[in-house]
Amino acid sequence: MKHQDIIEATTQWVREQLWNEHTGHDWHHIERVTKTAKALALKEHADLVVVTLSALVHDLADDKVVESEEGGLQAIKAWFSERKLDKETIDHILSIITSMSFKGGNGEPMATIEGQVVQDADRLDALGAVGIARTFIYSGSKGQPMYDPSLPTRESMTLDEYRNGNSSAIHHFHEKLLKLKDLMNTDAGRSLAKERHQFMEQFLDQFHNEWNGTLEEGR
Ligand code: ADP
Ligand code: NI
Repeated sequence: MKHQDIIEATTQWVREQLWNEHTGHDWHHIERVTKTAKALALKEHADLVVVTLSALVHDLADDKVVESEEGGLQAIKAWFSERKLDKETIDHILSIITSMSFKGGNGEPMATIEGQVVQDADRLDALGAVGIARTFIYSGSKGQPMYDPSLPTRESMTLDEYRNGNSSAIHHFHEKLLKLKDLMNTDAGRSLAKERHQFMEQFLDQFHNEWNGTLEEGR
């Protein structure tokens, strides 16, 4: 199949699988990440076919979405092999997905510019207005409160307490989201992350002011 046909078929394939997914990895997340990844790829001179296909399948090996990461990777490999994508490209895509999905990973940085771009695009979707909205949806689905000032922060919790979801949406900003801007791989990604980071800080200031009953100036 031609690259463009593989991209179109893969788009349909992923859309069908994630249409009813509500863990924060729904089709619209994939669509946004793919769009952002393509824009970053142009700025960073990365290969558009590898970036587009990797972004489309990037969550199909996440154990929140499929039963096992290994099974997910096998399915992705079979899908592209059946469509006669060349082995080098398939291996490249699989190595990107592996580095992205394995939790904690091996701590090694993304090896290629294509992987860096897709990882940046995924992280950008956790930031800004959309990132804020996803966090509250996710916390709500886990039965967590939007905020609870009496809860300990990540630093003072045991890992088990943390994993058991003893947290809140606002805590997640400090545990993860506010750290992402310093983890960006590319210049283009970093500059978008900076804007979205500032927006989240503004949101948190306003949130705490309202929570504490602090009246804003001039009202
Ligand atoms: P990724 O898309 O990088 O795999 P995750 O699976 O960690 O991201 O999370 C998906 C979304 O769910 C994120 O945007 C994040 O805001 C939200 N989320 C993940 N973990 C938590 C948590 N412990 N509390 C609140 N929100 C969370
Ligand atoms: Ni994702």
